[in-house]
Amino acid sequence: MNLDSARLLVVGAGLMGAGIAQVAAQAGHEVALFDTRAGAAEAAKAKLASTLDGLVAKGKLTADAVAATLARITPVAALQPADLVIEAIVEHLDIKRALFAELEALLADDAIIATNTSSISVTALARGMKRPERLVGMHFFNPVPLMKLVEVVSGLGTDPHVAQAIETLAARWGKTPVHTRSTPGFIVNRIARPYYAEALMLLQERAAAPEVIDACLRAAGFRMGPCELMDLIGHDTNFAVTNSVFAANFFDRRFTPSLVQQELVDAGFLGRKSGRGFYRYPDGAPPVPRVSGGSAPTAQRLVVHGQGFVAERLAAAFPQAERQTLSDWVGLEADRAQLRLTDGRTAREIAAERELQVPVVVFDLPLGEPSHLAYAKSGDFSNPVAWLAAAGFQPVEMVDVPGLIVARTIAMLINEAADAVQQGVCDEAGADAAMKLGVNYPAGPFEWLGRWGGAAVTALLDRLDAFHRGERYRVSPYLRHTTP
Ligand code: NAI
Repeated sequence: MNLDSARLLVVGAGLMGAGIAQVAAQAGHEVALFDTRAGAAEAAKAKLASTLDGLVAKGKLTADAVAATLARITPVAALQPADLVIEAIVEHLDIKRALFAELEALLADDAIIATNTSSISVTALARGMKRPERLVGMHFFNPVPLMKLVEVVSGLGTDPHVAQAIETLAARWGKTPVHTRSTPGFIVNRIARPYYAEALMLLQERAAAPEVIDACLRAAGFRMGPCELMDLIGHDTNFAVTNSVFAANFFDRRFTPSLVQQELVDAGFLGRKSGRGFYRYPDGAPPVPRVSGGSAPTAQRLVVHGQGFVAERLAAAFPQAERQTLSDWVGLEADRAQLRLTDGRTAREIAAERELQVPVVVFDLPLGEPSHLAYAKSGDFSNPVAWLAAAGFQPVEMVDVPGLIVARTIAMLINEAADAVQQGVCDEAGADAAMKLGVNYPAGPFEWLGRWGGAAVTALLDRLDAFHRGERYRVSPYLRHTTP
């Protein structure tokens, strides 16, 4: 099944359809573009022409290449035969099914129909088709010409050769295809849920302000923090996706939507587009104060405990410190005080467990550049800020909740990715590629797992689970099985 010179029909000339037509035409395909809205296909082509002309003016494309691309796109007034149809119409099961019935009446038996649905089951869309094996998901990301990821979605009846042909085609178009089974949210919209959900949970617990959560996750390498990102996406849209994933998983409480977000939606505080969400616009997030250097703290006895990248970072910051690599915790001991990398226990819990009551600080997982890093302390720690600042961080105090901000979020992203692999939705490499290319994560969940260590992630989740006593933080069987 070779689609290299396939004739295409793109149905739906909206935001996504126009982008798909562009990418296909730039790859050399003849593309017919159809939309039920009169003039929509012509308008999409005219808009594309002006965008491409702009790129010619900037010297990024030649006028000849643009002329050739545009010549390959033909707005059409009715559905017509093609080797491959890519559907990008409204997100509605019955309307898409009706379109597929119409298409099957005029397409050859070996034609492929690819749907760009972002949330409807490909399995369900294929029901009632004469040739359900010829339907496959081809889920692009917005903006189509720029985003590299394409999720190639197999429904229960999809012919594996059809999925393979679409993967090959997407790769030829310069995209990175990742194969997924048709399950709620596919890969990206599923694994990304905890990025929003943990921020909302922290807000519900009054553990930290939105700007602190955002600053800490940006410091971990994310381009945008979850609160500013939800404000950008729009709380109505984000809440609707969360609700649909929740319902589609038979109300599995791990996907429970947030009352915090429900309130924003109820209030009409939808984010940037309404002028107010977590933040007020155009100002956006208030700055999180930066700590100024101050005098370096001193201690009679300074020990770096544990192994791994965090211990190495501390050892580099405090070369005078002793090392206790076999210690069962990671962090810094300064005289009688302990600064510990979070292991899912609160500072209060750790302090209470120790026979000698020592002051304890827990600090968050420092994944990215040294910048904002959350910490929480048991009541009596006098000057944790100085030690964390001396290690190069911008310490921000938060309420003493298990897993703090970054560690808890990353652990839950890993846990969701592990579930997806366990359930055969995708493989580890696919999950990593999808999250990096589909939502620009600084690393894939399994890359984080490799760096942080399965035992530490599992222990952190187990402690969150014990603390919250619900299904939310239960460890994925895949993580449990693959962790020594
Ligand atoms: P859009 O509203 O910009 O465009 C949809 C177009 O389809 C409209 O021009 C409409 O007139 C046309 N249309 C509706 N019914 C039709 C029919 N029966 N036959 C032909 N044309 C019809 O929507 P958008 O954002 O382009 O989304 C299209 C599809 O892509 C949806 O399934 C959506 O879930 C999916 N998607 C959207 C993404 C996004 O970021 N907007 C990302 C990935 C997928």
